[in-house]
Amino acid sequence: MQPQLPVVLPLVEKRRDTPRVVSLFFPLPGRAEPCFDPLSAGPGQFMMVWLPGVDEKPFVLSSLGRNRFGITALVRGPFTTRLRDLAPGAPVGFRGPYGRGFRGWQEQAGGVVLVGGGCGMASLALLAEKLPRAALLQGAPTAEELLYTERFPRQVSFTEDGSAGRKGLPTEALREALERGEARAVYTCGPEPMMAAVVRMCRKAAVPCQASLERYIKCGFGVCGQCECDGRLVCRDGPVFSGEELAEMPSFGRTRRLASGRKVGLDFGS
Ligand SMILES: Cc1cc2nc3c(=O)[nH]c(=O)nc-3n(C[C@H](O)[C@H](O)[C@H](O)COP(=O)(O)OP(=O)(O)OC[C@H]3O[C@@H](n4cnc5c(N)ncnc54)[C@H](O)[C@@H]3O)c2cc1C
Ligand code: FES
Repeated sequence: MQPQLPVVLPLVEKRRDTPRVVSLFFPLPGRAEPCFDPLSAGPGQFMMVWLPGVDEKPFVLSSLGRNRFGITALVRGPFTTRLRDLAPGAPVGFRGPYGRGFRGWQEQAGGVVLVGGGCGMASLALLAEKLPRAALLQGAPTAEELLYTERFPRQVSFTEDGSAGRKGLPTEALREALERGEARAVYTCGPEPMMAAVVRMCRKAAVPCQASLERYIKCGFGVCGQCECDGRLVCRDGPVFSGEELAEMPSFGRTRRLASGRKVGLDFGS
């Protein structure tokens, strides 16, 4: 088996996107590295990000430029707090990309709808750049929590308190698009109850959809078994699954595993 060693790169820029979300940018590795090749990452694939002396956690590539790449983190615990507080030049390790990302988008002639919420927008960002004609629907609790508003000015925003865009949830606009027959392929990443609603609606309308699952990842490449979900390894077989696959995964929208392996309800500890 190939050793999975992180490639260490210095933080070159940090940007506060919202009060709880930060984007960090790193230089592309100067030469081809067997354990880390961001240029080969497809939308929805992920990398393991290592903070020396802290931990290693999964993140998607949220941007890819000519000289640098970025990750976007929702600050919600010890690791993401340390990420937020890194100073320029701080060393960060990367390995990947891993997993199965969004598929079939290259063949779509139109009618693509992307439905995102929270840090799930990071997973949809590269796809939105590759599909500029796709409808991008983003939901957030308030205006200040909307992500990438300048990067994707044509996106349709939904806020729960009505402080920006339409008041309500992006799933309402998806339902309308499905009823009008305007949605022909749907890709989603965000809170699992939202994704479960998206998958239910798409299956009812017989429209193909894919959703990116978040489960606890340790090794990232199919060895430790930590990310097992209804007989599938999320790090290797996912994180993106089709609506048909998710229909055969009873945990989807209901339960997840903690770091200890214990199964809990989705809202446990939230
Ligand atoms: C494939 C994949 C891609 C991801 N991409 C992003 C991203 O681009 N941006 C982003 O903000 N977040 C992303 N996450 C989630 C991110 O890994 C967690 O937010 C992060 O690990 C939290 O660590 P913490 O110490 O700050 O919080 P903690 O307090 O440790 O945990 C907060 C929440 O994060 C979850 N979490 C913690 N550790 C892990 C882990 N090793 N694997 C999966 N979930 C974990 C916990 O279950 C908990 O729900 C992704 C998760 C997966 C599975
Ligand atoms: S995280 Fe180890 S098998 Fe998936």
